[in-house]
Amino acid sequence: MRPHVLIARAVFPQILTLLEQHFEVTSNQDDELWTPAQLIEKLQGKQGVFTTGSQRIDATVLGSCPDLKICANMAVGYNNFDLEAMTTAGVKATNTPDVLTETTADFGFALIMATARRMAESERFLRAGLWNRWRYDMFAGSDVHGSTLGILGMGRIGQAIARRGAHGFGMKVIYHNRSRLDAPTEAACGATLVSKQELLQQSDHLILVLPYTPESHHAIGAAELAQMKPTATLINIARGGIVDDAALALALKNGVIAAAGLDVFEGEPALHPDLLTVPNVVLTPHIASATLPTRLAMAQLAADNLIGFLLHGKAVTALN
Ligand code: GLV
Repeated sequence: MRPHVLIARAVFPQILTLLEQHFEVTSNQDDELWTPAQLIEKLQGKQGVFTTGSQRIDATVLGSCPDLKICANMAVGYNNFDLEAMTTAGVKATNTPDVLTETTADFGFALIMATARRMAESERFLRAGLWNRWRYDMFAGSDVHGSTLGILGMGRIGQAIARRGAHGFGMKVIYHNRSRLDAPTEAACGATLVSKQELLQQSDHLILVLPYTPESHHAIGAAELAQMKPTATLINIARGGIVDDAALALALKNGVIAAAGLDVFEGEPALHPDLLTVPNVVLTPHIASATLPTRLAMAQLAADNLIGFLLHGKAVTALN
């Protein structure tokens, strides 16, 4: 009997076809958003599940789905997984590293540029029909080239951003991370390790690319924002919850920092309402990896993990 897998969200049709060639498939091409109880119900009798960041897999789910053997996340981040509980339950976890690194780094830079150069704010002004003359200081922002780029979290995506900053924009690149990069990687990134305090105090543009864990919850809150330069920008392409969005909205309103660019939010897709009332923030709906080739590569890798593990006993990018 072929294994049965659940695809928890809508996917590319060709990925659905691929999975149907190997498995009995229950899909969700209408992209319904299931409650945890509905997810458990749909998972009954399934050996594998194709997830995105919006399905939480924890001890309750695992305890209620005894047939489940693998959860393949179509995301590099996996804070929706309780990895320890999965390992204890003997359930394989996989994610989609590498295939999204460069695309996500491009977007990180796009958000740095848009934020520093006030692109969203000035476009809103133009679209509102308010532009009636050139003015010497209109939407004057801050330079990206030659400035100091701070990177919190220095994994694959952080390194790809560092290379762009150091080699493309002539930036001084500083980073803070749990561990120091080896010397050749540091040299390739043109990056120098500093303390978190130095990172906060010295960055002209600070970008967050660290995983969301209990330790990184509100890693940037009022106290950290207060240490940043009043001219600085803060960019979050990592996960909501790493920034205290309420504290950030207040800091933006009070000029504690100059501007922010956010692709991820605490409790997304809901936003902290105050973020919608401050002009100096660029807001995007969690699209850092969203180019068609990259999203397809992510879906293909998640599918390959299901096929590799359920049919051949070996996942491609296992987390446990
Ligand atoms: C997107 O946020 C991802 O983790 O891939």
